[in-house]
Amino acid sequence: MDKLLIKGGTSLKGKVKITGSKNATLPILAACLLTEEPCVIHEVPLLQDIKTMLGLLSSLGADVTFNKNKVTICSGNQLSLEAPYDIVSKMRASIYVLGPLLARFHKVKVYFPGGCAIGPRPIDLHIKGMESLGAEVKVEHGYIDAKTSVLKGTNILLEGTSGPSVGATANVMMAATLANGTTNIIGAALEREIVDLANFLIALGAKIDGAGSSTIKITGIKKLKGSEWTPISDRIEAGSFACAAAITHGKIEIDNCNPEHLGAVNLTLRSIGCNISETKNKLTINAESDLMPTSIITAPYPGFPTDLQAQFMSVLSVADGTSMITENIFKNRFLHALELNRMGAQIKVEDNVAVIDGIKKLSGAQVMASDLRASVALVIAGLAAQGETVVSRIYHLDRGYERIEEKLHSLGAVVKRVSGK
Ligand code: UD1
Repeated sequence: MDKLLIKGGTSLKGKVKITGSKNATLPILAACLLTEEPCVIHEVPLLQDIKTMLGLLSSLGADVTFNKNKVTICSGNQLSLEAPYDIVSKMRASIYVLGPLLARFHKVKVYFPGGCAIGPRPIDLHIKGMESLGAEVKVEHGYIDAKTSVLKGTNILLEGTSGPSVGATANVMMAATLANGTTNIIGAALEREIVDLANFLIALGAKIDGAGSSTIKITGIKKLKGSEWTPISDRIEAGSFACAAAITHGKIEIDNCNPEHLGAVNLTLRSIGCNISETKNKLTINAESDLMPTSIITAPYPGFPTDLQAQFMSVLSVADGTSMITENIFKNRFLHALELNRMGAQIKVEDNVAVIDGIKKLSGAQVMASDLRASVALVIAGLAAQGETVVSRIYHLDRGYERIEEKLHSLGAVVKRVSGK
């Protein structure tokens, strides 16, 4: 298993280019199952989660070619309708094949994705959505077994106790494109990745209005066609590099990113003393001043993203004062706090609240990544720590960050990947 070795203490300087968004690309790849015609997706990031999704599509019988960052998918009419355990258990986003396969073939069996290190990850809203569209859904022997003679458009209230669900909104929106009649998703997620998926589906011929608002209207049609698409850039990768610049008091340009997708994040960076300038597809961050403490509350978009909570915890661990982070989306998502404390951070967690007493300097240590965003948070902490930090289990990192050590190296960081047990 690979590890990252980081020698902290260098201020990041220079330019970095952000890749296509993982969370936009995953449902877009699954949406290619909605049509028998070929789809070409550009700027696809070379990530483990993307490879897992492409492996899943291939295992279902789709013809998939991945050349550099371009993927061509042709989902003919002879697909398998069973998403197997060994792939689905690797990645929760595999659930995205549920809606497209049910819509196109009226039958699908997907292994139940279960929980993960960040806590329970229910799928009741996905199931509710499919049932509302008229499917009969059974969960038995670890599988979600769904079938229908025809999907029928309807009004669906899709909010759960933690607010809207990105995944359920995407799944129901995909399923409804081929349903009979009109579907209104009420309580839809507003995330930009949902808007990008809707725009891709529209390019395939779907009739969708209101994506990006809390009600999305989908008028079902008989058949979708093929198309080409370039997904939006990854706002979480951009935010992660901004955190790396902030904690090292660096000054970097983040290219190929849409600052409009980072509203709450940029306000937070400004509130801790970073100077941010924005153009249409570039963000410049100058963090030469001392870092100030702040209060963060994670929320669905356009609120502060849970996927940047861990990275900001690293930054706030060296701010001048006491900060507080309230995690409202995945209430147990604080495993990184324990690892940061091994590096000298002063973080106390109670329920879904973390109180961070800023210290002058973190110290390098051996730490272990527990999930994707926790692993990048540890890398960010290592960049500012005194001495050497070794982050193990970085296969989590490879799920969501393309060539991160090369990108950090090009910004002046002393970081290298080593193979090890
Ligand atoms: C997506 C993102 C993930 C991000 C999350 C929240 C992808 C591949 N992953 O995950 O990186 O952290 O959005 O921004 O895009 N919930 C239910 N029932 C359901 C589904 C969800 O109660 O059926 C709850 C979840 O437990 C959570 C909240 O809804 O508390 C939001 O989850 P959701 O938006 O569905 O997250 P994902 O789509 O899994």
